[in-house]
Amino acid sequence: WLIFGGVTLVAFIIVLAINAFSHGHHPPSDLNRVVPAMVDQTAPFDQPGLVKKGENKYDLNMPSFAFGYAPAEQVIPLGAEVTFRTTSKDVIHGFAIPGTNVNMMVVPGHVNTATTTFTKAGEYMVICNEYCGAGHHMMMAKLVVK
Ligand code: CUA
Repeated sequence: WLIFGGVTLVAFIIVLAINAFSHGHHPPSDLNRVVPAMVDQTAPFDQPGLVKKGENKYDLNMPSFAFGYAPAEQVIPLGAEVTFRTTSKDVIHGFAIPGTNVNMMVVPGHVNTATTTFTKAGEYMVICNEYCGAGHHMMMAKLVVK
């Protein structure tokens, strides 16, 4: 039974290694990789903010960095369907908007997106829920839906 356990363990490790290294496991990303140091020069993150995409549909391009998001405050029309798009300029961050379905991990080099519809007016916070350094607790942005 010890041999059976050992062989099974080795088989699992081989499957894991094949998946990780040859198939390439990556977080979801709808754009090509972005070099963290080049985020400010890479579209669409060179112009952070809201972009109209259709009838009450928007993209909100919002790069994450230690310790904040750009823009720090954003007005969003009530009822808008917003696709948040973010990437990190430095380390791993979180991107969560309490009260909505938006809760992403922001991994340097990758672009992550989440879509939500704001049906209630008010102020929402974007907060970082991954410990990212000394200023982690201050990392936030404000969304004003009206
Ligand atoms: Cu960014 Cu914690």
